[in-house]
Amino acid sequence: MSTPRIIESVNALRQATRQWRAAGENVALVPTMGALHAGHISLTQIARTKAKRVIVSIFVNPTQFAPHEDFSKYPRTFEADREKLATAGVDAIYAPQPAEMYPPGFATTISLAGPASAGLEDRFRPAHFSGVATVVAKLHIQAMPDVAIYGEKDFQQLAVIRQMTRDLDLPIEVLGGETIREADGLALSSRNVYLDAAQRLVAPVLNAAMRDAARRIRCGEAMEAVMSNARAVITAAGFALDYLELRDAVTLGPPDIASGQPLRMLAAAKIGATRLIDNIAV
Ligand code: PAF
Repeated sequence: MSTPRIIESVNALRQATRQWRAAGENVALVPTMGALHAGHISLTQIARTKAKRVIVSIFVNPTQFAPHEDFSKYPRTFEADREKLATAGVDAIYAPQPAEMYPPGFATTISLAGPASAGLEDRFRPAHFSGVATVVAKLHIQAMPDVAIYGEKDFQQLAVIRQMTRDLDLPIEVLGGETIREADGLALSSRNVYLDAAQRLVAPVLNAAMRDAARRIRCGEAMEAVMSNARAVITAAGFALDYLELRDAVTLGPPDIASGQPLRMLAAAKIGATRLIDNIAV
C-alpha cells in the first residue's frame, strides 16, 4: 500500500511525468470518472504490468453528458476512490477541476466518424463521443503516457479512442481490459448503484440473453431469428431496449459471418431510469 500523489494541474502532471521519464521509467494512464469498482481496479493491475508508473485520472467530464443525463447526480466518491487506489498501488491520481480542463474561452472539440458513427451508442447519445474523444485527447496529451488502458465494457468508446489516438498520431498504446462481472453476469458499472432491489434482480437478464444468443449463433442458428428472439426476451424481462446488435468487432460495421472476422454483440437497455450497456465476443 502506497499513498498516491494527488495532482490537480496540467503543469504538475507534466512535471511528475518528466521526472519519471528522466529516471528511465515508463508511464501508464488509466482514465476514469471515479466511483471506482473492481473493473477499474483490474485496469490498474494491467497498467502495473505495462509500466513502472501508473496514473489514474478521475474527472467527471461534463461535455460527454447530454443535458438530460446524469452529470449532476453521477456518483462522486473521491475519498473511497483514493483508498482503493492506494491499495492498488498506483503512483498518482490526476484529478483536475473542470476549470483546469476547460478554462474560460475553451473552444475546441474533436469531430469523429468511423466507429463513432456505427449507429450504436451514438444513435442515443449524439454528442457523447465527441465529448469523450476531446477529453481523452487532452488526457493523452497532458499525461503523454506510453500506454493508456480502457475498459472493454464501453466497447464503442474503446474503438473511438483507438481511432482518435491513431488518427492524431499520439504515440500511445491503447489497451482494452476485460469486463468484470458480478457472479450473476451483470457487468460492473458505476451506474449499478442506481438500481433498486427489484431492478437489480432483473439486470442480469441482459447478459444472460446475450450469452444465449451468442451461443446459438456460434452453433449456426440463423442470426436474425436469434437476435430478434433475444430482443424479445430482454424486453419481456422489463427492459426498454435501445439496441441489441451483432457487429464486426473491429470496425463495428455490419457483420460478415462468412468472413470469419471476430464478431461482437453489443446492447444498451434501460431499467427504469438506469441505462445499462454490455457487450460480449461471439
Ligand atoms: O469511460 C469513462 O469513464 C469515460 O468515458 C472516460 C474514458 C474516462 C472519459 O471521460
